[in-house]
Amino acid sequence: ELGFFDGEFISLDEAKVRLEDRGYQFGDGIYEATHVYNGTCFALPRHLARCRRSLRELRIPITYMDEELTAIHQDIIKKSGIKDGAIYYQITRGTAPRTHYFPEHVVPHLSMTIRESKPNTEWQENGIHCTLVEDIRWLRCDIKSLNLLGNVLAKQAAHDKGVQGTIQFRKDQNLITEGSSSNFYIVKDGIIWTHPLNHYILKGVTRSILMEEIIPKLGLTVVEKAFSPEFAMSADEAFVTSTSLEVTPVVNIDGHTIGQGAPGKITQSLLTEYHRLVR
Ligand code: PDD
Repeated sequence: ELGFFDGEFISLDEAKVRLEDRGYQFGDGIYEATHVYNGTCFALPRHLARCRRSLRELRIPITYMDEELTAIHQDIIKKSGIKDGAIYYQITRGTAPRTHYFPEHVVPHLSMTIRESKPNTEWQENGIHCTLVEDIRWLRCDIKSLNLLGNVLAKQAAHDKGVQGTIQFRKDQNLITEGSSSNFYIVKDGIIWTHPLNHYILKGVTRSILMEEIIPKLGLTVVEKAFSPEFAMSADEAFVTSTSLEVTPVVNIDGHTIGQGAPGKITQSLLTEYHRLVR
């Protein structure tokens, strides 16, 4: 497997992490995950824009131009020979003796990996089962930061219960936020609902493509409004979106069947349009 660290392509076994890299000790950094379809990275400009915003919010200096990051993505795809895969990259604040405040004179580290990967078509055709867990994450979920313990614990809950996905909800308000690494939507009486963009959720690139390109094209209606788990259980359809899941139907939440227990018509039409865009 091929990796990239601070300007050099390396095999993953050779890669060395500095012990006092702040990403390693504090989770002090940001990341992006993109998908490669037929040798091309999909929606890279949107990912780069989100990356820049995450860096800005954490006050990590920007030391790569978008053109460079684009070239590194193209190089790693070419060198790996991978046609369909997943690219992960992260930028940490840098390496310095451990102290909580930002150290002076540190230079951010960029690392990247690529792996073969394809969306799970079986999940897309049949839908997935999800479990609900309390959203215990911090209050800046709009930043794609390396601090993912809340998401990791949420996803593990699904694994422990033998289901494929997790939906998180805020206990204080009884409102669903998003998946453990996806955005969540329901369809009720022909209208799509999803959580509004604020600090409680990540602005998914897939979500933006749905909202800006696919939903208007299909003439569908969406409301960006939070809803309760009970409301979601009574929905006609439910689905999640992410770079790796694309549009994946949710047919069961904690044992409650959603709609007919099969992927809904609107969900299927969104997935079909998404496939048109990426292929
Ligand atoms: N996760 N919400 C969260 C919390 C996420 O981690 C992700 C993506 C999304 C969807 O974003 P996008 O459509 O840009 O992939 C929403 C990536 C895939 C990950 O952690 O691997």
